[in-house]
Amino acid sequence: MRDVVTAAFESAFGPTPTYLTHAPGRVNLIGEHTDYNDGFVLPMAIGRGVWVAAHPRTDDQFRVHSVDYSDTISFSRDQLQDSTLPHWTSHVRGVWYLLAQQGMTLPTADIAIAGNVPIGAGLSSSAAIEISMIELGLALANQHMTQAQKALLGVEVEHKFMGMPSGVMDQMTSAASSEGHAILIDCRTLTTRPIHIPDGVSVIVIDTAKRRQLVGSAYVDRRRQCEEAAQIIGVSHLRDATIEQVEAYKNQLEDVRYRRARHIVTENARTLEAADALQKGDAVATGKLMNASHYSMRDDFEISWAEADLITEMARNTPGCFGARMTGGGFGGCCVALVSANAVEGFTEKITPLYQAETHLTPVIYAFQPAAGSRVIFKP
Ligand code: GLA
Repeated sequence: MRDVVTAAFESAFGPTPTYLTHAPGRVNLIGEHTDYNDGFVLPMAIGRGVWVAAHPRTDDQFRVHSVDYSDTISFSRDQLQDSTLPHWTSHVRGVWYLLAQQGMTLPTADIAIAGNVPIGAGLSSSAAIEISMIELGLALANQHMTQAQKALLGVEVEHKFMGMPSGVMDQMTSAASSEGHAILIDCRTLTTRPIHIPDGVSVIVIDTAKRRQLVGSAYVDRRRQCEEAAQIIGVSHLRDATIEQVEAYKNQLEDVRYRRARHIVTENARTLEAADALQKGDAVATGKLMNASHYSMRDDFEISWAEADLITEMARNTPGCFGARMTGGGFGGCCVALVSANAVEGFTEKITPLYQAETHLTPVIYAFQPAAGSRVIFKP
């Protein structure tokens, strides 16, 4: 991909780029919709992501080329907030606008963007663009930020320029992961703990080939229901509620908010337990928690979809699989399974035809190694 983005830069703009940055996508092992409830998540960065090649300019113009969209757009510094420009330019505009707001002086640039995270699959292609663009902006401004500051800035781009009120998990994972490890993130303090993925255990991502639908509005609804539940229980965030409190407030919460709160409170507990189990090398216990997480998302949080329910059940019934669940925001995209490394080949061979026969969809199955977080690959 490094060569793809460099070649794309050269054919769009002529000279060789002088800056190259990268940020990975992610898959979440457990801890879903807990991030904006100030809770815990256990994702890992994957060996797919976004690469950005650039060269600074001396005028007020940007020229941005997207390999995915086969498009090149020019705009000036005055147009950073111009939402009539194509949506895919929002990440670049947002990062430049917000870095300038923080008082940083940075030049405009010619920029080429290429990625290999499947879009709309729940693997955080958007966060990967934000974080790779932040790495570029900081390199051009010759400034430094902590991983948490980069993540929070990425979230601000998502909220203000993408119109998605997401939590901090995706950006934090993309910025702060380390190779070979998942990352337990406390989304309140943004402290992290690397969790080694045990040898002999593979993280398998299954793309159900069903793309996300209605994800924006359903996400906003879930977030609002969680905030209402926290308010009724009398805590600042559901992170602070216990299961006893959720039960005690069952009538006031009413059915939907009660089940949303129950998911968040139990999911936080499962995430902490899963991190400890994985750290001890206990894939069996981790897998059971992943299964429980899926059922909670299906029944209480109601973000699963039929194909995810089906393929995770097929996965659980396949030898060598410790557990499986849908991953990401929900309503389409990917599932994640923990599988014994020596059973991966048989797993794929068994699942694919079974799923095809029932759905007429072809799943795409990846074995991802936990990857490192974002970085500047080169700069002058
Ligand atoms: C999306 C959001 C994240 C998180 C997940 C659900 O990926 O971007 O912040 O809320 O959904 O866990």
